[in-house]
Amino acid sequence: MNKPYVYITRKLPEDQIKPFTNEWDIGMWESETEPVDEETLRKEAQRADGLLTMLTERIDEDLLSDAPHLKVVANMAVGYDNVNVEAAKQKGITVTNTPDVLTDTTADLAFGLLMAATRRIVEAADYIKENKWNNWSPLLLAGSDIHHKKLGIVGMGRIGEAVARRARGFDMEVSYHNRSRKPAIEEEGLAAYESFEDLISSSDFVMSLVPLTEETEHLFNEEVFRKMKEEAIFVNASRGKTTDEKALYKAVKSGEIKGAGLDVFEEEPIASDHPLLTLKEIVCVPHIGSASRETREKMMNLSLENIEKVLKGDEPVTPVTQP
Ligand code: DGY
Repeated sequence: MNKPYVYITRKLPEDQIKPFTNEWDIGMWESETEPVDEETLRKEAQRADGLLTMLTERIDEDLLSDAPHLKVVANMAVGYDNVNVEAAKQKGITVTNTPDVLTDTTADLAFGLLMAATRRIVEAADYIKENKWNNWSPLLLAGSDIHHKKLGIVGMGRIGEAVARRARGFDMEVSYHNRSRKPAIEEEGLAAYESFEDLISSSDFVMSLVPLTEETEHLFNEEVFRKMKEEAIFVNASRGKTTDEKALYKAVKSGEIKGAGLDVFEEEPIASDHPLLTLKEIVCVPHIGSASRETREKMMNLSLENIEKVLKGDEPVTPVTQP
């Protein structure tokens, strides 16, 4: 009997793949750093029973319609806005993602961005490298405090909760806004619910952790930045398109808000002459939220395990259940 064919859209380490080589024929894109080109992806999808995809691939209705054997798309990310989940569902193709395994790692980075932007850590490190450090002085590179300030989290999923736990260690007041209330979080005293309007206007830090959907696209726009405090720092560790970058640039440049920490961008990768990089008040990193070695390996394993389960006719470990 023919083995199922699984195509992996990025070069993953051999030792991750090895346990599956007896079960499947495996095809893999040759580069670790460059995404698979569209033509190859479409050709491979036509013969694949399973696809292991990255967030850089667009898995749209056309591709799914032209993939007669495809049973599972395992997206190696918690976010799945790059996959047309509704179309997959209609075609009986299971979509899976990688929640839980990356929660703490992503929360660490989100909190790190908050700290870096607020305490001017990147700017200060550059200051030494640029040979500007001649003397200690009372207000040299003085930022703002983080402890005892108010953090507003927009999108209270697993990562939001993990960020709130970190904030508790900093004696911060935490509020959240989410489509649905989280009674357990409120009962524990971890975070209080607020309307979006109240949260954005009263928080010292506003963090976007919402998934990208039609409703959340450009949720953070000119009007929203205008309502934030002048001292506010904005952090985005969800998806770039939740934020109108031009509006953010204007808000920081004009002093409407103090600064930002960004892991994600409207179009990735951004070029080194991107306007956001010209403002020292904005700390930008290249979508590394879940990028610890340990967590990335867990994400690979989970994606492979999800494919294995579906191809054996079992329930996957982490199916995407809602579009
Ligand atoms: C995800 O998993 O969605 C993250 O953005 C990847 O780091």
